[in-house]
Amino acid sequence: MNEAVQTAGPLKWWQSGIIYQIYPRSFQDSNGDGVGDLPGITRRLPYLAGLGVDAAWLSPIFTSPMRDFGYDVADYCDIDPLFGTLADFDALVAEAHRLGLKLMLDYVPNHTSSDHAWFQEALQGKDSPKRDWYVWRDPAPDGGVPNNWTSFFGGPAWTLDPVSGQYYLHQFLPSQPDLNWRNPAVREAMFDVLRFWMRRGVDGFRVDVIWLLAEDERFLDEPVRPEWKPGDPEKAKLDHIYTQDQPETHDYIREMRAVLDEFDDRMMVGEIYLPVAQLLPYAGTAENPMVHLPFNFHLILQGWDAGLVRDFGDHYDAACRADGSWPNWVLGNHDQHRFKTRVGAAQYRVAQTLLLTLRGTPTVYYGDEIGMQNVDIPLHLQVDPAGLQQPDVPAEGRDPERTPMQWDATPGAGFTAEGVSPWLPLADDSHRVNVEAQEADPHSDLNYFRALTRLRRDTPALVGGDYSSVDAPQEVFAFRRCLDGAQVTVLLNFGAGEHTLGDLAAGETLLSSCNDRPASGAPLRPHEARILRPA
Ligand code: GLC
Repeated sequence: MNEAVQTAGPLKWWQSGIIYQIYPRSFQDSNGDGVGDLPGITRRLPYLAGLGVDAAWLSPIFTSPMRDFGYDVADYCDIDPLFGTLADFDALVAEAHRLGLKLMLDYVPNHTSSDHAWFQEALQGKDSPKRDWYVWRDPAPDGGVPNNWTSFFGGPAWTLDPVSGQYYLHQFLPSQPDLNWRNPAVREAMFDVLRFWMRRGVDGFRVDVIWLLAEDERFLDEPVRPEWKPGDPEKAKLDHIYTQDQPETHDYIREMRAVLDEFDDRMMVGEIYLPVAQLLPYAGTAENPMVHLPFNFHLILQGWDAGLVRDFGDHYDAACRADGSWPNWVLGNHDQHRFKTRVGAAQYRVAQTLLLTLRGTPTVYYGDEIGMQNVDIPLHLQVDPAGLQQPDVPAEGRDPERTPMQWDATPGAGFTAEGVSPWLPLADDSHRVNVEAQEADPHSDLNYFRALTRLRRDTPALVGGDYSSVDAPQEVFAFRRCLDGAQVTVLLNFGAGEHTLGDLAAGETLLSSCNDRPASGAPLRPHEARILRPA
């Protein structure tokens, strides 16, 4: 794909569209077991269509013991009974397509569940035909772990199989053994999984931890970061030069992309936490057919400050342009604290406006459109292994951002039946912050979100237009989007001060986060986001 196709030609659905992430356990329970399911999602698809989003991405729905809530897959080609059946899935795809929505699944290629038949066979012994489908090493000379590699969830990345005396690798839980992507049979089997779902009508995939697929074959210790000192988080200790972003990973992704390209108009977005210089080589271009979008998590990772966001926006947009790849933006997902909690309620609409007006594909996390916040989960109700395994680092727990969707003011919030305990507690504010209440209020967060998506659809410059930032007072981030002579200005006040912006604020207000239409040139109010057509 060359730059001309990406910016001037008709955009593909994954370029012009908005992706909406559903965490299936928490979206809609239809059978009263306190856990969301596929028939529940199908029932709510008209809500998605009404939001003005274009694609739904479902976190994993496959057969799983749920030790990492579905990111531990025991059968890639079946639906976990908790969520429903393949027939329910087919009905979901049909309804999505009837409504004009694309459907994306979560593809988890780095590791399986230890319950997967492949791993069970590998455990049979060193001669098992599936042994080499996973990553095995002999103990270190002292009998301990083969090297110092660590799991993302704390502790060593190695677990001993007492029967064979060898260790197997797991970058996450011991019950999530890493597949050996160097083995061509593994790659073929995993590519067949993609074909299976594409034949069933799936339009795309979010690919889990795609930058971790390969490890360096020498299995050397990873160096300790020079800036790390005892007492700092263990997680920040090692420089992951042998377990992340390996050259072979790029090769495997090119093969994966070729499988996607066997089908019409499919896409994949890769989960990749890397700085821009290492991130963009994963982005698909004509010369380098990789993932269509490598997730850009930098709005989450860096400080919430007008200057920092502007600097990053300028740098990233220019870098995408230079290599001919399409940008994308994310504010939240099932691994990150809710953005309204992170940036603060006052900045919520500024952040939402930014996400939906920067150049590139936005991904929206369910519930963020109504302003759902982190929910404090008492210890006895916490279930996330990332949190439970690292009790000394409370921020690692991901339960707070995974609570049930707030549909209405009933005791089960419309998520589950009255009297049923949902798998995670509902937010205390669900009687007030919910879809039904916000539908009735023209000034609600939900209606602001809809106004933003409508404006995007009605304003080609907001979708395909060039981006350029404009100088403004320190706490204001201002930029323009420009297409075929049509211009839109976005003014974002990251602070509590009022700013008179002169010519920059001159023009017709298209939308303001303050629910009104300020006159041309009117000062930008504290925490206001304003979109205008310049005079
Ligand atoms: C990804 C997922 C996360 C999961 C991990 C292991 O980071 O987003 O939820 O725990 O991979 O599969």
